[in-house]
Amino acid sequence: MSGPNIRTTAAQISYAVIYKKTNLSAAFKQRLTAKYPNTTKSAIKALCFTTIRNYLSLEDRWLIHVNKRPKDKLVRVIITQALTEFIYMDKPKHAVVNEAINTAKKLNKQWACALINSTLRKTVETTSHLGTNTAAQFSHPQWWIDKFTADWTNQWQQILIANNQKPPLWIRARKTPPAALLPQPHSTIPNAYKIPAQDITQIKEFQDGDISVQDASAQLAAFIIDPQDDERILDACAAPGGKTGHLLELNNNIQLDALELYPNRAKKIHANLHRLKLNANVIVADASQPQDWFSGKKYQKILLDAPCSAAGIIRRQPDIKFTREPDDLLKICQTQQNLLSAMAQLLEVNGSLLYVTCSVFNQENSNQIKNFIKTHPEFSEIKLNYPFATNCEYGIQIISGNEDMDGFYYCYLNKNDV
Ligand SMILES: C[S@@+](CC[C@H](N)C(=O)[O-])C[C@H]1O[C@@H](n2cnc3c(N)ncnc32)[C@H](O)[C@@H]1O
Repeated sequence: MSGPNIRTTAAQISYAVIYKKTNLSAAFKQRLTAKYPNTTKSAIKALCFTTIRNYLSLEDRWLIHVNKRPKDKLVRVIITQALTEFIYMDKPKHAVVNEAINTAKKLNKQWACALINSTLRKTVETTSHLGTNTAAQFSHPQWWIDKFTADWTNQWQQILIANNQKPPLWIRARKTPPAALLPQPHSTIPNAYKIPAQDITQIKEFQDGDISVQDASAQLAAFIIDPQDDERILDACAAPGGKTGHLLELNNNIQLDALELYPNRAKKIHANLHRLKLNANVIVADASQPQDWFSGKKYQKILLDAPCSAAGIIRRQPDIKFTREPDDLLKICQTQQNLLSAMAQLLEVNGSLLYVTCSVFNQENSNQIKNFIKTHPEFSEIKLNYPFATNCEYGIQIISGNEDMDGFYYCYLNKNDV
């Protein structure tokens, strides 16, 4: 890693996420301006992701070598970031200590140089550290651990461990991907391949629309919907359009409305469809307010890939460990319930509704559907069964890390004639 600003910028970004609850992509956008070359941006991003992912365990690791936790939060980040480079990025001991001191000087923390020096020197000599509490052991704030434990008595450790891994790169391929990509096919899901990490956007097959980036878990949606000729289908929460594109790849002869609340995100659906050379009717509107956009022609199938806590994709969004609060979940669940109720009105009798989240919390998943069916008794579950998923009271759960997949929830419902 070279360049004068990598560590200072990375420390400022990680500080903003961990202590100011700034969303990581917003922090990148704000700090990583055009003056940074792409290689520097990538190095900063990699350092921030790794630091944030492992922050609580690494901070615990050096805290045992100081009398009391330093009040200055940026200094805490500088020390933890240096340890990240030592433990996870193969940087030599002397280099991380020297660079941490340089970073402190550049960030006007000269007063902390002696503290940083002695703390890091002691910490890099310790060979292993189990963590002085569960939050440190699993590098998650305790409330997340409590929620995973409450829902998944036997799998909570698997989930926490998966959340701290660097995520794999899964692709969806229209044609057999080139051997040079070293594609490993998924055990069950057709056309899903894991490939080594790389910038796929530079590859011809990506630019031509033959391959797309999509976790194998997310690729299940279009197969469950199984689009048939001439069907009227609504993709209710569509941006950036991963599942929209997949539905059309499976059958281009459908009438597909792709709805998205935010205009900027809707642009991503257009860009994705343009790359895939496919078309959908993209509508910018609030799915929970059909009076503003619904044509009156009910749908035969609806995909509701609802906004959620993202608890199943923490390995891709480690910042949410720090930026989310337990109360956020209540608001998210209310939004999901509103969306489900709106979708119920828009579906034909005998039509089907696929409810999806990238969460592993029952509150947003099986319990949500249980509550929905109580108030909408015309709906009944169409059972799904996959070897890599766990059956819940309602729907199925892919537990984060199963077959190296993201944590996703699916429930398929039929609207009966009552
Ligand atoms: C989980 S993401 C969807 C991912 C997408 N289906 C894909 O596969 O690429 C949820 C999306 O729903 C959008 N959204 C949130 N609330 C919405 C609403 N009330 N109406 C329509 N879209 C909404 C969010 O902006 C976000 O883009």
